[in-house]
Amino acid sequence: MSLDWLYGFDELNAYRLDTKTGKERLEAQVKNLPGLLNLAGIVLPKKPRILCLMAGSCIEGIAFAKVYDADVTCVDLQERLLSKGLREAKKRKLKLRVIRGDVREPSELVGGKFDLVTVLGQPLPHIAIFDFDQTISGVKKLLAKNGTFLIDQSDLIFRILPQYKDAMTHNLEPPVFSIHRNLNARHGYFERLYYSRTRHDSYKTYLWAPWIIEYMLKKNGFTKVEVKPYVDPYNMAQTYLHIATNS
Ligand SMILES: C[S@@+](CC[C@H](N)C(=O)[O-])C[C@H]1O[C@@H](n2cnc3c(N)ncnc32)[C@H](O)[C@@H]1O
Repeated sequence: MSLDWLYGFDELNAYRLDTKTGKERLEAQVKNLPGLLNLAGIVLPKKPRILCLMAGSCIEGIAFAKVYDADVTCVDLQERLLSKGLREAKKRKLKLRVIRGDVREPSELVGGKFDLVTVLGQPLPHIAIFDFDQTISGVKKLLAKNGTFLIDQSDLIFRILPQYKDAMTHNLEPPVFSIHRNLNARHGYFERLYYSRTRHDSYKTYLWAPWIIEYMLKKNGFTKVEVKPYVDPYNMAQTYLHIATNS
């Protein structure tokens, strides 16, 4: 399964810093970050250490480094996306480094303690519940005292129900379509077959909802967990902020 192909489609331009939409989204993040942290009740120390997991092309990482003078580490599976973020951060002379790796083992990728660990941009559909359970337990060890774990994820279960079997278009030039292939109730995902004239691939989407994330955070020992509805001012998607504090 190559995420590279998927993240080249027009519909995911907002996650790529080298597109017009990606650049606009970065500027929106810079503008909206203080409001988001305010809503989440997060007060960062001076020059905070921030770890951005599933960071793509580092859009939130660059925003944190710029707005809060933060020392940022971005982790993602896709080298190509990370290098776009690193290039932009260097141009802006920001403190940002990137690590290519799988978030299932966060404490094997980075060391030290962080004031804030983020999973932003609604990335959880890429990961299975059992794998993310491991991520949460690793993040717990990486958080400084009173540090925060912030997850932004929309509800996928109710949102997807009416349309999960529809055929969809993801790219126009060249056309890329997808159709429903399989619903796996045992492991909590559905699978779609994406195809263009020259290529096809199958992608899983794991089903997530706020109550599942809240339960998992509490189960992993976070005693203070809040879930707040949030409207992403950039793409107007109804999402939820999950805020877990390490006391
Ligand atoms: C929806 S994008 C969000 C990117 C970024 N947070 C943003 O908002 O621009 C999800 C990202 O998660 C990454 N990803 C998926 N599974 C991963 C894993 N197991 N470990 C690390 N990154 C992963 C993908 O490569 C992709 O860049």
